Amino acid sequence: MSEPTVDRLIESARAVHDFAYAPYSKFRVGAAVLTDTGKVFVGCNVENASYGATLCAERSALSNMIASGERRAVAVAIFVDAAEPAMPCGICRQWLAELGPDALVVSATPHATKRSTMHELLPDPFVFTP
Ligand code: THU
Repeated sequence: MSEPTVDRLIESARAVHDFAYAPYSKFRVGAAVLTDTGKVFVGCNVENASYGATLCAERSALSNMIASGERRAVAVAIFVDAAEPAMPCGICRQWLAELGPDALVVSATPHATKRSTMHELLPDPFVFTP
């Protein structure tokens, strides 16, 4: 994946992180997903007074992707304005493993980026094989 593509994805994640609804944690997260057709979908975390009902930025972006008829993520950028890059939580890893099993994951702050693959982040995901 080209550097300008990665940079654009990070910028999309940065832009949407401004819209995060995080009144409880104050930890705003933005995510941008690049699909295998070259489209970009964004999402942010949406918290709730019932804390466990919170939606992460990654699943918000993936839901937008699915609702637009797309099926496969090839890269995802995650942006937080924090000291360290934020890695996807376990539930988001399971989502990403299903909807972007070969995806590149770029976790970014204003000062650093960390790259991983989904294979590194969730090497043995649950697969539904009845
Ligand atoms: N959060 C995400 O948006 N993505 C993750 O992968 C981990 C955590 C959000 C959820 C919550 O609103 C805030 O970060 C603090 O946990």
